[in-house]
Amino acid sequence: MWLKLFCFGCLLVLSVNGQSAASLTPEYHPPLPLQSCDASGCTTENTAVVMDAGARRVLSAADNSVYCFGVDGWDASLCPDGVTCAQNCAVDGISQDEYANRYGVTTSGNTLRMNYLTVSEFGMNIGARAYLLGEDNNYRLFHLKNRELTLTVDLSTLACGMNGAVYFSEMDGDGGASRYPDSSAGAGYGMGYCDGQCPHYLRFSNGQINSGDSEFGICCIEMDILEANRWSATYTTHGCLTEGYHVCQGTDCGDGSDYYNGLCDKTGCEFSPARQNNRLFLGFNSSFTLDTSQPFTIITQFLTDDGTDTGNLVEIRRRWIQNGVEIPNPVANWGYDEDYDSITEPYCDAYKAKFGEYNDFEEQGALASIGASFERGMVLAFSFWEDSSTYMQWLDSLSPPDGDPSVPGVYRGPCPIDAGKPEDNHINNPDAFVTFSDFKVGTIGSTF
Ligand SMILES: *[C@@H]1O[C@H](CO)[C@@H](O)[C@H](O)[C@H]1NC(C)=O
Repeated sequence: MWLKLFCFGCLLVLSVNGQSAASLTPEYHPPLPLQSCDASGCTTENTAVVMDAGARRVLSAADNSVYCFGVDGWDASLCPDGVTCAQNCAVDGISQDEYANRYGVTTSGNTLRMNYLTVSEFGMNIGARAYLLGEDNNYRLFHLKNRELTLTVDLSTLACGMNGAVYFSEMDGDGGASRYPDSSAGAGYGMGYCDGQCPHYLRFSNGQINSGDSEFGICCIEMDILEANRWSATYTTHGCLTEGYHVCQGTDCGDGSDYYNGLCDKTGCEFSPARQNNRLFLGFNSSFTLDTSQPFTIITQFLTDDGTDTGNLVEIRRRWIQNGVEIPNPVANWGYDEDYDSITEPYCDAYKAKFGEYNDFEEQGALASIGASFERGMVLAFSFWEDSSTYMQWLDSLSPPDGDPSVPGVYRGPCPIDAGKPEDNHINNPDAFVTFSDFKVGTIGSTF
């Protein structure tokens, strides 16, 4: 950095720090205001949306006109390996035009819209992942013990196999800029992703740039508020035996046959009305209690044992509102000894026993893991994705796909098992989009 003292023309040299921000394209952040509420009312925070770093151009830090990753793939001299690549390369900004017309991500007022398929000069783009950025250009950290999050969602065009998701991950607030001193691009460029599946596919991870899968996985605690399409919806914990952004290797990543031996609860504890045998609760016409052909509001409450911010997280409760009417979350309906209508540890233990599902939830910290993560602060993520391996059968169809839907736990939704194939949706449902709007966070009962 001392070069600045001597050399006026050396500004570009100053950015020869790995994963710094390139200056070819100024970064735009679509505004998405957040209401922050308590008993006396709500105030507006000027939060915004930032696209994940993995979608970005990777340029030579020394000469932003040279691509580290271009039409011919990775530049062998700039990127002989992940560490050197990170030192030599920088991530570029995404313009407002590109947010909209390359990635299909736009905001208007308090609404975020993500399109399924976008064709541009750059090719075909499917979905996106983005995060909520605070007013200080770091991620907006959420501390939700004894708090609730409310948002409105429009799933009306999300066909079988699609997934519109809103969730929290325990990413670093600064996107890793201080954890990895060479990685200065930070949250303003969507850096530092992690989740409860400990992904290896991330282009930017562990301070490196990966051309393919990395030997390192990136784990962190995750709390899914909504994974849904117009035929099914679920909310799910993914606790981990980790604090913050955690780089895993080997068994700890829980890959393949180590699925239950890793640091994170990849299965999680979920509350899916359909999977809990309320098959007429949510679906795409007016014969369902909650009709996804129209928008609806979801409230997710993180309740502590003593009703204070410092108590233990003991319950994650879902409430639904449509057309101004509150619709109670249904009671799990497989003949349990108790009436469970929210995520609690007794509920998780009971359904996993009933379904014969291995109880990794208890082994990976259960609700205490989620509570501790919210004490440290979690980042809000949005995504629209598809599933080329299992066509989202785990969400909206049968899982296992050859299972008997009368066996507890198999039925997830009414979609035929082969209905969610990406290649079919690209042709039959290209205009699908999801909107997430009117985000409010606050004390219990203050946001709806
Ligand atoms: C609503 O959708 C379900 C599931 O596809 C179907 O069985 C039912 O006939 C539909 N009802 C109406 C009123 O369209």
